[in-house]
Amino acid sequence: MSEPSPAQQERLAEWSVSRSVDIHCHVLPGVDDGPETLEDSLALCQALAADGITTVFATPHQLGRYDGVNTAAVIREARAALQAELERAGIPLELAPGADVRIDERLPQLVDAGEVVLAGPAGRHLLLELPHGMYLDPLGTIEALNGHGIQTIMTHPERHRYWAGSTERLQSWIEAGAALQITAGSLLGDFGSLAHQEAWRMAHAGMVSLIATDAHDESRPPLMTPALEILSQQLGRDFARTVCLENPLRVFRGERVEACGPA
Ligand SMILES: [Fe+2]
Repeated sequence: MSEPSPAQQERLAEWSVSRSVDIHCHVLPGVDDGPETLEDSLALCQALAADGITTVFATPHQLGRYDGVNTAAVIREARAALQAELERAGIPLELAPGADVRIDERLPQLVDAGEVVLAGPAGRHLLLELPHGMYLDPLGTIEALNGHGIQTIMTHPERHRYWAGSTERLQSWIEAGAALQITAGSLLGDFGSLAHQEAWRMAHAGMVSLIATDAHDESRPPLMTPALEILSQQLGRDFARTVCLENPLRVFRGERVEACGPA
């Protein structure tokens, strides 16, 4: 692994953590709506390192419109190939496995068959994405995955309109054992006013466990550093540390995460 970037060194020293983990990022080239080419992918990896991130879960879309295309084997091979390119290019970034998995009634069987890529080296979490065009209740899936010893991480609930302003539905997922992941850019207004408002509402209400970049390319860059800063200012340094650093590290280690509220 290449020498850490100045931003990475600063992150680890300032927050006394062993890694700065991003659990959700579309970093692999040519597999989904993330970077198209290897060059674009390496540019995104440089941006992640410059954002202080040391370890990123490579989480391309799986199932939904990528069903049968982004198989577990394809994703694993693409991750290994990109890690080798990073070493060749001297970019200090550790890639861990993952996928941004569209909800699907076959999920428990696909998990059993090893057809779905679980999150991180420990593989005790699954990133679950709901469709934007219609509402599908994830409760049954969350419970079924619990039965497999897997915690569900709901990706960017703040960006869906169905439950805007409501707490009950989100709370029922949390009570069932799921963790909510907010996208860093939502806190900064990059996904519009509703996502901005919802992200802060969920954070204030103590419903959030994790912040991730969900970065794709230049138009959706990693924004962990500004997210850490604004969360520290608005909701306190302990809260920022838990959702941006400690809980992502727990996921990396395969430990369950809880929803966290400001002090
Ligand atoms: Fe995503």
